[in-house]
Amino acid sequence: MDSADLLPVPKPSEIVRGLDEYVIGQDVAKRVVAVAVYSHYRKLTQSRRGVRIAKSNLLLIGPTGTGKTLTCETLSRLLDVPFVTAEATSLAQTRYVNDEIEAILSRLADRAGGDLARAGRGIVFIDEIDKLKAPRGETRATSGENVQHALLKIMEGAKVKLDDGRYVDTTDVLFVCGGAFVGLDEIMVQSKSFGYIATKDDDNRKILERLNSRVKPTDLFTYGLIPEFTGRLPIVARFGELSRELLVRIMTEPRDSLYAQFREVFRQEGVELVVARRVFEQVAEIATEYKTGARSLRGIVEELVSPILYTVPDDPGIRRVEIASLFADPLLVRAG
Ligand SMILES: Nc1ncnc2c1ncn2[C@@H]1O[C@H](COP(=O)(O)OP(=O)(O)OP(=O)(O)O)[C@@H](O)[C@H]1O
Ligand SMILES: [Mg+2]
Repeated sequence: MDSADLLPVPKPSEIVRGLDEYVIGQDVAKRVVAVAVYSHYRKLTQSRRGVRIAKSNLLLIGPTGTGKTLTCETLSRLLDVPFVTAEATSLAQTRYVNDEIEAILSRLADRAGGDLARAGRGIVFIDEIDKLKAPRGETRATSGENVQHALLKIMEGAKVKLDDGRYVDTTDVLFVCGGAFVGLDEIMVQSKSFGYIATKDDDNRKILERLNSRVKPTDLFTYGLIPEFTGRLPIVARFGELSRELLVRIMTEPRDSLYAQFREVFRQEGVELVVARRVFEQVAEIATEYKTGARSLRGIVEELVSPILYTVPDDPGIRRVEIASLFADPLLVRAG
């Protein structure tokens, strides 16, 4: 590959700042991801200078709707590299895993506009990797294990033949795996007590806590993934549950936040939309009960504004719509 056509790689702090505009909270995870991505793309530009640095793929662990896919998507935009997502579960359901993998890389090639060198440094996000684990009480998950072996091959780097006879080399592709890994904490608690060292001062305790909160390959193995696979995912970033406070920020802060989007929709009708903070707090409260992270926010907000959007076009006199509470009628302000 010609390193000349690679953009200068943004520094980890620049990557985090870029992510901050779209991904709210998850500060620790963003830093881990930024360093991993920086090292990966730096390596591509420096690989001719001697020491070959082994590839480090990334594992993102966290509950649904907390920003894992959003982070990868935003990264690919920041770095201007092609990006595709795939689901491990659908790989496990087919008898033709290699055909599915080929299809994933074909999509990556499409996203790269057919430029296979560009596809070769893209990002592939494989979600629901935790579903490949062996069923309880069994040591082997036949279909899941096959998928892990197939993924191993392309994660290590392989030339995959596409439909049209051309090849995508996956050596420099960044693979990111994702999953909720429900129950991993209990496994980690058990493996933690093992090797606990009593320390005197706080600094050491901090380091110890950090080491202890690290997800180790052995934890993933205990969870049910095969060791060859867990060994290839040395970098783990954990995404946390989103608090109400963070949900409110998600609705209002990012450049393309829900609030910004709906204000734009109303603006196109010549109407200013003003939503009180209290409303977002009420929406966050409901979303928390749904337990799907930030995923349910849009639906709730749509439900709130769609009756208003029904009446607004019929009444050209409306200049402003003010919503003070989720449970009260909106105030329609007319001109003059
Ligand atoms: N931390 C966050 N900051 C901003 N928006 C977020 C965040 N987390 C989730 N969202 C919003 O929720 C939607 C779903 O998030 P995303 O697809 O990243 O979830 P996920 O963690 O990949 O979940 P899953 O495990 O179900 O795939 C995003 O499109 C985004 O609008
Ligand atoms: Mg996702």
